[in-house]
Amino acid sequence: MSTAGLEVLNLHILILHGPNLNLLGRREPSVYGILKLDQVNEKLMELAAGLGVTITCRQSNHEGELVDLLHQAAVDAGAVVFNPGAYTHYSLALRDAVAAIGIPVIEVHLSNIHAREDFRRQSVIAPVAAGQISGLGVSGYLLALRAAVELAGVGGEELAGKSS
Ligand code: DQA
Repeated sequence: MSTAGLEVLNLHILILHGPNLNLLGRREPSVYGILKLDQVNEKLMELAAGLGVTITCRQSNHEGELVDLLHQAAVDAGAVVFNPGAYTHYSLALRDAVAAIGIPVIEVHLSNIHAREDFRRQSVIAPVAAGQISGLGVSGYLLALRAAVELAGVGGEELAGKSS
């Protein structure tokens, strides 16, 4: 479908932020940056509009709610961009949910988890995610959204030449 020159893809993507990410901008800004979560989401919204897709941005501090949101994504989204926060390192419930839903999930971390404490170097999500982007700050979320669109199977050539 084309609206005012913009190709609109029939694709919805869930952006899912895990625990403590509601504190972005205030929480250890030297590690996680100075942008607030709303500002990160605004950048994602702008990019989504440029790519012709729709997104929903959600954040939860609760493991079970994150599981529920992943299950719902299988019903109404084509892919998920997911920062599981500290759950990355030990939540088998989230790992199983990612494995179960059958749509691409791209794991994102603002910080480089491989260059930090030992306990952060392991991700139990990564083996079942489509891929992982770590250490690129907010750019990582934007790259993950582009990847999500392509992996959801409607990106490919249609996106060539489009910019944010
Ligand atoms: C994080 C890294 C995790 O280790 C940490 O617990 C977070 C944020 C990141 O975005 O860099 O909450 O996922």
